[in-house]
Amino acid sequence: MSFRIVVTGVSGQVGGSLMALPPIPGVTFVPAGRGVLDLARPRGLAAALAALAPDAVVNCAAHTAVDRAESEAPLAFAVNAEAAGELAAACAARGAPMVQLSTDYVFDGSKTGAWTRTDAVAPLGVYGASKEAGERAVRAACPKHLIFRTSWVYAARGRNFVRTMLRLGADRDELRVVADQTGCPTAAPDLAAALAALAPRLARGDDLPWGTWHLAGREATTWHGFAEAIFDCAAPVWGRRPAVLPIATAEYPTATPRPRNSALDSAETERALGVEARSWRDALPPIVAEILAQED
Ligand SMILES: NC(=O)c1ccc[n+]([C@@H]2O[C@H](COP(=O)([O-])OP(=O)(O)OC[C@H]3O[C@@H](n4cnc5c(N)ncnc54)[C@H](OP(=O)(O)O)[C@@H]3O)[C@@H](O)[C@H]2O)c1
Repeated sequence: MSFRIVVTGVSGQVGGSLMALPPIPGVTFVPAGRGVLDLARPRGLAAALAALAPDAVVNCAAHTAVDRAESEAPLAFAVNAEAAGELAAACAARGAPMVQLSTDYVFDGSKTGAWTRTDAVAPLGVYGASKEAGERAVRAACPKHLIFRTSWVYAARGRNFVRTMLRLGADRDELRVVADQTGCPTAAPDLAAALAALAPRLARGDDLPWGTWHLAGREATTWHGFAEAIFDCAAPVWGRRPAVLPIATAEYPTATPRPRNSALDSAETERALGVEARSWRDALPPIVAEILAQED
């Protein structure tokens, strides 16, 4: 019998990357998109999940529109917190582990240096607050949980900074990019590979170090530094390179404030669980190449 891992958010960056991985013997990833499990309606989730007979759940679905969440707080909390808690409770009732993705935006950005998993959370906006509430809901409902906080996720598909930069940079000679926010860009395929590496251990019923962990690309940078690296990759293909002017956050106002420094320290995760995400510098070039190939 194959171990059934129900995956939500399969149309998103991380869930989509997980479903695109080569098969793992003894493990079946069961895709559960919005039509199967609608996280905006948390109450119906337990029954809908039971119908999928999960042995574990990886919840990659989330209300991820950070600025829109400010005007859609009830929806953000339903999807990111209440639904996560319902899925976790349904897992616990079956003795199944629950893997939940969370975010660097649970932190307020005030720390100098990378955030560790035991640092105090203090989200700045609705999105971060709803994800933090989701963490608490999962912890309370399901003892066998792994919560992975990740950050600045990018992939060849979906809504992300890399695709935005390449779209804008294709038409403009000059871009202004925020240079005073620091974080760890994380390639969705790397994150998915790390989650998949845990699947055989979940299937064996290993007693994993349940709890909250950081899983983000190694090495911190600013959005400006990240943009420079993106155009370094694109320039040989384009035969030109847009200039990237550093600006301050104050010059690029958003509906919700962003943490000044949300770099995550993932070293402990590597030691305890043996999984990691590479440096974004190594992971970025093939993803830029894939995006540029789509445009041809
Ligand atoms: N993106 C980042 O930079 C980032 C940073 C830190 C943490 N994270 C966390 O990492 C996880 C994965 O993020 P991602 O970048 O892969 O997200 P994403 O690309 O924005 O995808 C979000 C996924 O959630 C699904 N979803 C949204 N509302 C739903 C609902 N009501 N019912 C069912 N599914 C719903 C979407 O489905 P539809 O296509 O149907 O809308 C989509 O598949 C999330 O937990 C996110 O909070 C992301």
